[in-house]
Amino acid sequence: MCGIVAYIGKKDAFPIIIKGLKRLEYRGYDSAGVALIDNGQLNIYKCAGKVANLEEFISEKNAEGTIGIGHTRWATHGPPTDVNAHPHISMDGSLALIHNGIIENYDALKQELIKQGYVFKSETDTEVLVHLVDNIGKKEKVWFGEALRMALSHVVGAYAIVAISKDFPNQMVAARKSSPLVVGIGEEGDFYLASDATPIVEYTKQVVYLEDEEIAVIKFGEELKLFSINDEEKRPYIQQLEMELEALEKGGYEHFMLKEIHEQPRSIQDCLRGRLNAQEGRVTLGGIKDYEQKMIQANRLILVACGTSWHAALVGEYLIEDLARINVEVEYASEFRYRNPILSENDVVIAISQSGETADTMAALELAKSKGATILGICNVVGSSISRITDAGSYTHAGPEIGVASTKAFTAQVTLLTLMALSLAHKKGSISETNFRILLTELEAIPEKVKKVLETNAKIEQIALEYKDATNALYLGRGSSFPVALEGALKLKEISYIHAEGYPAAEMKHGPIALIDENMPVFVIATKGNSYEKVVSNIQEVKARKGKIIAIVTEGDTQVREMADHVIEIPETNEILVPLLATIPFQLLSYHIAVMRNCNVDQPRNLAKSVTVE
Ligand code: AGP
Repeated sequence: MCGIVAYIGKKDAFPIIIKGLKRLEYRGYDSAGVALIDNGQLNIYKCAGKVANLEEFISEKNAEGTIGIGHTRWATHGPPTDVNAHPHISMDGSLALIHNGIIENYDALKQELIKQGYVFKSETDTEVLVHLVDNIGKKEKVWFGEALRMALSHVVGAYAIVAISKDFPNQMVAARKSSPLVVGIGEEGDFYLASDATPIVEYTKQVVYLEDEEIAVIKFGEELKLFSINDEEKRPYIQQLEMELEALEKGGYEHFMLKEIHEQPRSIQDCLRGRLNAQEGRVTLGGIKDYEQKMIQANRLILVACGTSWHAALVGEYLIEDLARINVEVEYASEFRYRNPILSENDVVIAISQSGETADTMAALELAKSKGATILGICNVVGSSISRITDAGSYTHAGPEIGVASTKAFTAQVTLLTLMALSLAHKKGSISETNFRILLTELEAIPEKVKKVLETNAKIEQIALEYKDATNALYLGRGSSFPVALEGALKLKEISYIHAEGYPAAEMKHGPIALIDENMPVFVIATKGNSYEKVVSNIQEVKARKGKIIAIVTEGDTQVREMADHVIEIPETNEILVPLLATIPFQLLSYHIAVMRNCNVDQPRNLAKSVTVE
């Protein structure tokens, strides 16, 4: 969960690397470092703290050189300190290396190297790699690129690695297994490397995504060379990047999270584009259309995911079972991969992931594949690992999501799962043509209705002011709004650090109601629908214990308005589409509360945007 950036060419490497690390800081931000080769010298600059710290640390030094590697860290082995920051260098100071991932057998390798006289400065698993490469290079008398290839056959774990050596000042070597790495091919023979394309897009749109166990040998002014870990040469598959630079800027908003919340009318529209035509009564999911029959005939659909994506999967379960009458199971990917699940070729496993790089979700897919199941994906990042290992899938088209707290990716995932439920239901005939058309028209109207919800931002900010000092909070919902309650609680937890829990409203009486007193804010989704009256009685139970009710209600609601301390109105829509509207006020509430508590909204403590290690 670190960010890697590297450059080789004729431009100054340092400014390119620092700018790229800032773009990747959402992947990890507890320490950072750069290594540059300048006139045959290998210079390392690294320190604990954010990239800005590193920039300041280097400001008095002349960080020259046209070849360099940079890293922003999310600690796994060894606390965030100057010495544990990357790059790590060989004992003779000739080789520097950065790494994203985990070397599982690092301790065994370390003990072996210590026996051979290597002295370790840091507590990291990564330092083992640089000494191992140095060791093999000296023993086998091979250049550092070949030594890295040989070293990797001894390594167990996940890695994206970039290495440079002052003995080979115009070469760079990179390797990848599980952790993402992309190479940008510059116009003037120069190359840009990074964990994802965001640091590269302003320089080139020509990229090569490294596959598992691929090694890239990069020489300024020469063709990119790719090899397998077994030394077979491979042809690079050059792809054209679709993203635009401006999508990576804050667009005048104070935080990426607020910008991404306000982008949802467009991101939901983009997710629907070319897939929904209410006029013609048509839903088309081109990416999975060849698998829809398989999904309809499947024993069950198993949705695997983590965090916010898991909440989207839960909404998907309600919708697909309700509309398409297909059995759906939702699994935490981290549990699914180790609980020896019963799987067969009649099962379809669908991974949901914004980044497409979450290690537990990828491992769950690989397990499913090994058991013969069909594996599909719903991802946001184009070209991500999950999009490449699945049999087929659909992109959510929400655009780059920089804020660590997922917002627009969640509503895009729910939009896509809604399209999937409607498409399967229509093909299966488990929904009447009339109802199908009504729901398509309602879904088509959602982006405009989201705009209306966003207009209540100022009111939500006022409500946030009253609860910014809360120490706990409860979120309640029924039916497909229950996962939205879970998501609301997760948003508040991850960016404001207030303890919060989401519950099915009826579950309260079985325990959580004991928590309620005049200090407990209870956020409730109480929109019109089959369970409205039930939710009203749950609200009465909370009020009876002096709890504070903040209710999301359907425009024009009068009953709950009488009982609640605060109401936030959302436009009327079909019950199955409420999750797309009700989640927005929860996003804004947690955002404003976090800002008022001076939390780092875009880079919350202890979190990173994509969790690429288990
Ligand atoms: C959500 O705000 C968090 N960033 C986190 O829970 C996230 O949803 C989870 O890590 C899954 O990430 P993915 O969708 O990229 O797989």
